[in-house]
Amino acid sequence: MEDKFVLVKKAYDNAYAKYSNFKVGAVVLLKNGEYFLGSNIENASYGLTNCAERSALFAAYSNGYRKEDILELVVIASTEYPVSPCGACRQVISELMEQEAIVTMTNLKGLVKTVKVKELIPFCFDEGDLNDK
Ligand code: THU
Repeated sequence: MEDKFVLVKKAYDNAYAKYSNFKVGAVVLLKNGEYFLGSNIENASYGLTNCAERSALFAAYSNGYRKEDILELVVIASTEYPVSPCGACRQVISELMEQEAIVTMTNLKGLVKTVKVKELIPFCFDEGDLNDK
């Protein structure tokens, strides 16, 4: 498979970030070697923007894959330190990836920070809570 940092940089380059000028790229790596790129896609109606992490995960799911197929999510931006997924993306990551799966954060300088999903969003609201009323 192509190097994951090369792949995520492609997603970064594909970002549609004309309002914030803050590009973000993500790639979902599957256990079978396939991958799905995701970029942040902005809109003149700002609130409709989709983050890169969610774009990548939705692409994987839209193509029929599920959490057990996913090895890792990698995310990149031009930040000083490895870019950190927003709260909304953490909620979605927690639903769509396994708790033990890896999230790798990086930046254009090549700094890397790797955590597990369960470390990114502890005490997450999940489907269990819906049955707990
Ligand atoms: N953004 C992402 O794509 N992922 C994140 O985790 C944080 C923020 C995008 C949304 C928006 O297009 C731009 O970065 C600035 O917030």
